[in-house]
Amino acid sequence: MSAALAQEAEPLIRLRNVSKTYRSGGRAFTAVSNVTMDVRDGDMVALVGPSGCGKTTVLKILAGLHEADGGTVQIGSQASAFTPGRDVGMVFQQALLLKWRTILHNVMLPADILGLPRKAAEARARDLLAMVGLKGFEDKYPYELSGGMQQRAAIARALLHDPKLILMDEPFGALDALTRERMNLEMRRIWRESGKTILFVTHSIQEAVFLGERCAVLTAGPARMAEYFDIDLPADRGLDIKTSDEFGRYVRRIYGLLGFA
Ligand SMILES: Nc1ncnc2c1ncn2[C@@H]1O[C@H](COP(=O)(O)OP(=O)(O)OP(=O)(O)O)[C@@H](O)[C@H]1O
Ligand SMILES: [Mg+2]
Repeated sequence: MSAALAQEAEPLIRLRNVSKTYRSGGRAFTAVSNVTMDVRDGDMVALVGPSGCGKTTVLKILAGLHEADGGTVQIGSQASAFTPGRDVGMVFQQALLLKWRTILHNVMLPADILGLPRKAAEARARDLLAMVGLKGFEDKYPYELSGGMQQRAAIARALLHDPKLILMDEPFGALDALTRERMNLEMRRIWRESGKTILFVTHSIQEAVFLGERCAVLTAGPARMAEYFDIDLPADRGLDIKTSDEFGRYVRRIYGLLGFA
């Protein structure tokens, strides 16, 4: 294999037998046990599993907010170093916008934190707001936007500093069903247009199959990876795909892994 090919084949994230035990008040609780997975650069991976199975813990380890206490975590490569503060963008269940800042200035927040040049950051924030469909809302305040619009602003904010990796922790959980469907379509588009590597946590099996190019199914008690597989659906997905046989087969497979079938 040529050097270029070997480099291309190197994953952005390599987790090997990663474990995490929380210790508090003299008690130990293993939240994540022996998780092994590779994530390719530019991939879209859905992490799905029941409440408490360790999804947020995995994201926090990747974001550098928690340290694994077993196994190895490698992010980036020799060719491309990785700094969690600089190279990760996070989106949470709630948009967490600062209510005293305009939408534009909320999106520019990472530039202020990282001390990036403001003029370039503003231009990028405006472009990103247009990409997430919020052109014209730059000078509004968060309370003037719907929940879905606020969440789109949070996605733009996560992209501002051009991170290599976007971690999304159940970002659409608080949205109504129709807005959530729309956001799923938007996410596929944003992923394809931005070329970013995205890890997306969800409780919704349908959302995992619709969004993911790959799907990691985690189970609780013990917390472990049940399966990690490709979702072989067309890159250009419309909501109608949810009624297809292939889509249904993936959904049933995940139900089975989670003990529902
Ligand atoms: N800081 C902590 N200290 C002690 N235990 C913790 C801590 N954070 C999480 N846990 C425990 O670890 C387990 C996994 O938590 P985690 O938040 O990763 O689950 P999750 O899969 O994200 O759940 P949910 O879907 O409800 O968000 C849970 O049982 C939780 O109680
Ligand atoms: Mg969680």
